[in-house]
Amino acid sequence: MADVRPSPQHAAAPTISADGASGNGILRTLFRSELGGHEQVVLCQDRASGLKAVIALHSTALGPGLGGTRFHPYAGHEQPEEAALLDALNLARGMSYKNAMAGLAHGGGKAVIIGDPDKVKTEELLLAYGRFVASLGGRYVTACDVGTYVQDMDVIARECPWTTGRSPEQGGAGDSSVLTAFGVFQGMRASAQHLWGSPTLSGRTVGVAGVGKVGRILVDHLLQDGARVLVTDVRPDAVERVRAEHPEVEAVADTAALVRAEGLDVYAPCALGGALDDATVPVLTAKAVCGAANNQLAHPGVEKDLSGRGVLYAPDYVVNAGGVIQVADELLGFDFDRAKAKAAKIFDTTLSIFERAATDGVPPAAAADRIAESLMAAGPSGGEV
Ligand SMILES: NC(=O)c1ccc[n+]([C@@H]2O[C@H](COP(=O)([O-])OP(=O)(O)OC[C@H]3O[C@@H](n4cnc5c(N)ncnc54)[C@H](O)[C@@H]3O)[C@@H](O)[C@H]2O)c1
Repeated sequence: MADVRPSPQHAAAPTISADGASGNGILRTLFRSELGGHEQVVLCQDRASGLKAVIALHSTALGPGLGGTRFHPYAGHEQPEEAALLDALNLARGMSYKNAMAGLAHGGGKAVIIGDPDKVKTEELLLAYGRFVASLGGRYVTACDVGTYVQDMDVIARECPWTTGRSPEQGGAGDSSVLTAFGVFQGMRASAQHLWGSPTLSGRTVGVAGVGKVGRILVDHLLQDGARVLVTDVRPDAVERVRAEHPEVEAVADTAALVRAEGLDVYAPCALGGALDDATVPVLTAKAVCGAANNQLAHPGVEKDLSGRGVLYAPDYVVNAGGVIQVADELLGFDFDRAKAKAAKIFDTTLSIFERAATDGVPPAAAADRIAESLMAAGPSGGEV
């Protein structure tokens, strides 16, 4: 068992001084109001397994915090622990907004395990982590994120009942990419409805950047709907796999070429964050952006640049919520059809955001934030999105 009780004081233990650089930095970070005032942050250490983790709970206003566990080394950072803490805080806050907009009875939480998963991930470490999550008594529910997989959740679940995203063999929902892609497709249909008056991508050209787990399923939906599809990926094998299944899909050299493609109607970022930056927005040929990637806006203000160019932006955390809807359903005993029906509502939610944006005279990203904040302020009985 990991010892999750407070350690006794030792006279010889080094003291983190209140005005020392790291102590002061961490405290400042925790109470920084622009990060949204987190409810609880837990620093976890298990010496036997080498576990070092941060669990951040941003809000439990709508229910237990739900969000994945990221396993990442933060190696390039001068202060990896502080970088991990900041990441956990920002990711937890993002989950509050995503879960609220998805209509889930969940608040926002997220955890980060510090370390290179290929080097330090062991069963012992995951079990110790599970005990820390369990020690929160259900205030935080964990799931997969970058660096953690369904098999890891199966291990964590042995110590912690507040674990989701497990394998189907263990009664879990399995890979969340299926409903993530389905939800993004619903957001794209809503974008088409708003721009062109019809909820279909038929006859439109859609560029998908990143054809990994989500992107390649999105391609299937788009082709079935009658769209022309362009794809790009840094991994040639990912592109080849899609083209082997669908020879009609056109490959583009890279994302820089894709965003400039003539006749592009919709750009779907499905790779990494920061896809919409100062270099991309001015050259974007698409009329709409709707994709799975998290944190697509490279910095605050990009959403205004997109609106200024007349590009309709479907907020990332609204349209990519299919995955969290899937793992939230697992907590009830997974029912794919029920989860899919909930993910289908992303169509109406996205449309309502475009309408609110037009009414308030703000970009859709700002309208989504406003709606999510009012849902959190209203609490669990606040009603539907
Ligand atoms: N999987 C989910 O359920 C889920 C849920 C919500 C959000 N997301 C987000 O959606 C995005 C895609 O997730 P995924 O599960 O498909 O990941 P993935 O790793 O399976 O696929 C990402 C693909 O993007 C490619 N890629 C990386 N950098 C690129 C670049 N510069 N240009 C073009 N392609 C590039 C990779 O080679 C890979 O094929 C991520 O940002 C993820 O955080 C995923």
